[in-house]
Amino acid sequence: MIFRNKKIVLGLTGGIAIYKSASLLRRLVNDEGADVTVVMTKSAQKFMSPLIFETFSGKPVLTDMFEGIRISTRHVDLATSADAILVAPATANIVAKAAYGIADDFLSTLILTGGNKTIFALAMNDKMYANPITQANIQKLRELGYGLIEPETGDLACRTTGKGRLADESVILDYLDRRLNGSGFLVEKRVIVTAGATREFVDPVRFISNKSTGKMGFALAREAARQGADVLLISGATTAPIPADIKSIRVESAKQMEKALVENAGLADFLFMAAAVEDFCPAEISEVKIKKNEAPDHISLSISPDLIVSFRSVNEKACVVGFSVETVDGKARSTEKMKRKKMDFVIWNDPSKSGVGFESDTNEVTMLGPNGKEWFFPKTTKREIAAQIIQTVVENC
Ligand SMILES: Cc1cc2nc3c(=O)[nH]c(=O)nc-3n(C[C@H](O)[C@H](O)[C@H](O)COP(=O)(O)O)c2cc1C
Repeated sequence: MIFRNKKIVLGLTGGIAIYKSASLLRRLVNDEGADVTVVMTKSAQKFMSPLIFETFSGKPVLTDMFEGIRISTRHVDLATSADAILVAPATANIVAKAAYGIADDFLSTLILTGGNKTIFALAMNDKMYANPITQANIQKLRELGYGLIEPETGDLACRTTGKGRLADESVILDYLDRRLNGSGFLVEKRVIVTAGATREFVDPVRFISNKSTGKMGFALAREAARQGADVLLISGATTAPIPADIKSIRVESAKQMEKALVENAGLADFLFMAAAVEDFCPAEISEVKIKKNEAPDHISLSISPDLIVSFRSVNEKACVVGFSVETVDGKARSTEKMKRKKMDFVIWNDPSKSGVGFESDTNEVTMLGPNGKEWFFPKTTKREIAAQIIQTVVENC
């Protein structure tokens, strides 16, 4: 995420989720170095005092259209100089006003002046959200190029459960990062990313699996989305939280992952096969839990389907990037795999090195590509490695 010195207006409206905006602001200013100006509606001030936002932003909070009349065009100056106007939480009311060009207070005037640089992180009661009027307003803004961060489903402040809860802080920051920093080189491209470990069941409760957390696949999915791609994430078991704002399918076994992959392969332009598909699966799955006193002498294993081969059987054109975890003779083995499975690139890492591969937030990889090309990406965060991989793949595919 790069927010250093970015000029961001944080618009606060009258929703109960406003208490989360204090943390969002602190993160943007203190951790990310952004230059944030806070604007609050009259209703927002009923929920929280401007003082807290003034303290975190280090600047006066703007609340009134006509206060400080000497600089009466400041709505224009602020809207023009801002890199983004982030309204979080965004009420049904501010969305309706923006959709109809109503400018009756400082924030709505700013939004109208700023064109589609505004991003609305929606938060409201589920019935307000589901109302066709709100839906039509959201659609209208989306078509005009405004940013819309969909609310999550969960418990709401009004003691019901439904869709309307403000998206997680990390989702909002990811979205903002994408709007501000993504150069969009994957716009109109369809990207499939697989992530996590598959679980190969012996009986309904026991399985063979591996240590994959999903972090590398999630980083690739986020980066592809950041560059404008239409991303589908097919995820096995993971310990890292699945990115909430990316279309995803959850699966467990290699066979289920194969089915999801093949069903969606047709239109894909890129496949990043970061999932750690378990190579072996029990030849038979017991339908009932095997009792302790009936433990089998051995479990027969068969080989799991090869998902890249399955993908290639329905899509020969897509650029396919595979992953190879090898501790011995890694480069030669990875090259052989790349050729045999008709991959365009293979990313090889050696998990015996510290801070690399499974369960780590960092990685260090060698990428092998067409015509004997080779790239080394030294140890850094998985997020940064994902950015380097995607950029290099797109430039060389
Ligand atoms: C306790 C309480 C919670 C509210 N929460 C929300 C909310 O989460 N989302 C929303 O759209 N409106 C919510 N409202 C209604 C808005 O505050 C109301 O529509 C107001 O006019 C919005 O003004 P603004 O958009 O200018 O801030 C809430 C009202 C109250 C009293």
